[in-house]
Amino acid sequence: MVLIFKFPATALPKTLQHKTFSFVHQYRNATKLAALPGEPSGPVVKTEIPGPKSKQLLSELSAIQQSSSVQLFADYQKSFGNYLTDVDGNVLLDVFTQISSVPVGYNHPKLLELFQKQENVKTLVNRPALGVFPGEDWPDKLKNVLLSVAPKGLRNVTTMMCGSCSNENAFKNMFIWYRGKQRGENAEFTPEELQSCMINQVPGSPKLSILSFKGAFHGRTLGSLSTTHSKDIHKLDIPAFDWPVASFPRYKYPLEENVRENTAEDDKCIAEVEELIELYAKKGIPVAGIIAEPIQAEGGDNPGSNEFFQKLQNVAKKHGAALLIDEVQTGGGPTGKMWCHEHFNLSSPPDIVTFSKKMQLGGYYLKPEFVPKLAYRVFNTWMGDPGKIIILEAILDIIKKENLLQTVEETGKVLTSGLKELEKEFPELINSVRGRGTFLAFNASSMKLQGQILAGLKKKGVQSGGCGEQAVRLRPALTFQPYHANIFLDKLRQVLQETKQMF
Ligand SMILES: Cc1ncc(COP(=O)(O)O)c(C=O)c1O
Repeated sequence: MVLIFKFPATALPKTLQHKTFSFVHQYRNATKLAALPGEPSGPVVKTEIPGPKSKQLLSELSAIQQSSSVQLFADYQKSFGNYLTDVDGNVLLDVFTQISSVPVGYNHPKLLELFQKQENVKTLVNRPALGVFPGEDWPDKLKNVLLSVAPKGLRNVTTMMCGSCSNENAFKNMFIWYRGKQRGENAEFTPEELQSCMINQVPGSPKLSILSFKGAFHGRTLGSLSTTHSKDIHKLDIPAFDWPVASFPRYKYPLEENVRENTAEDDKCIAEVEELIELYAKKGIPVAGIIAEPIQAEGGDNPGSNEFFQKLQNVAKKHGAALLIDEVQTGGGPTGKMWCHEHFNLSSPPDIVTFSKKMQLGGYYLKPEFVPKLAYRVFNTWMGDPGKIIILEAILDIIKKENLLQTVEETGKVLTSGLKELEKEFPELINSVRGRGTFLAFNASSMKLQGQILAGLKKKGVQSGGCGEQAVRLRPALTFQPYHANIFLDKLRQVLQETKQMF
């Protein structure tokens, strides 16, 4: 049974008021009304994707820059809620959301309202060099916005531009902290240190390392790239630091049926971390810090267990290395908690937690001992963006008022059980359903099939994304409701049925 709700056009953002939408809602989810009245009732596919207009724009863009990663050109005036509209008029249910960075859907009316206020427009227009000339409301904004959702136990925050530069700068905080410990609390820099750092030599430019994991993705800037190991094309031809790279757990699914093997996998990886820390100490390149994603995302959606992260934190402490949890992709709510590491029951907070994507601007929470004592040691011109804080403030308000972390939990359950049914129905095609909240993935049985599933979903009006070699990942907005999940599962079932028939 289907219920149709009509909403007054005035409930819509101005850019959409010329349209009358009807909202179709599955009866079994009738208690869960749309978070965003006015959303399209489902995907609409009018052309092949990319369609003719997208193709034309792509040829224009390609004449200017490398654009072979472009999938389609979007119409951001018309995109709304969980639906991305393209320039050819195709309306796609978006479970990829700009590589996991749209928290409350497109053109949320409350976000559009923000820039009807003069004061907010002035904040946008007069972008400050925050490290030198912050506006008078900046300390309040940090307290009321970023610190209002700080991971438990972390009360300091540094704002940055993107995920890569957040990790990259956080590495500097870890190195400065590590050298500070070695040098002693109040020791001065020596003239030799000051001179040698100017020509990239020891002792001023010390040999220190960051331990990272195989399959990790922490960004593409020069330092962060040395900790990225998801795809060779990201790294090829770029000089890299000699830093240790340990194995990250690769579990067998379903988790509950493979507890013994998966515990052994955790222990094997932790032992490797310790061996590498000891090896690099002997090599004269000690490990100052460890960086890890709670769920390796770009590398194929590989989660680490609570126990793995508890043990990792213990190893870091034992060896005097800092622990940085990279929540660039997992942060901001998609796992059902604001920060994924909050699932882990760690005995104390991680030393640093980096963020970007759903948080609108980059940055990191850190313990006070990681805040440098001197100016300009971690610094750049913008150091974040107050315009993005205005948007983030409204997003956090929406998350709270609309109870979206609860929605993530509920929708996550619908998606997980639906995907598990599909893996039972099509075991030769998909397997290994995993993840937390709506931060979910499954494996296609081959790389070729991964491509076929993604293309099949696109043809049916679902924008999804792959990761690693075989995974299909779900990264919907936090406003993705159980009835959106059912539309997605329906489309996926159709794709799998059609694929099976081709075999
Ligand atoms: C876990 C993680 N860290 C860092 C980054 C890099 O972020 P950005 O692309 O904003 O530089 C990403 C991007 O996908 C990511 O997923």
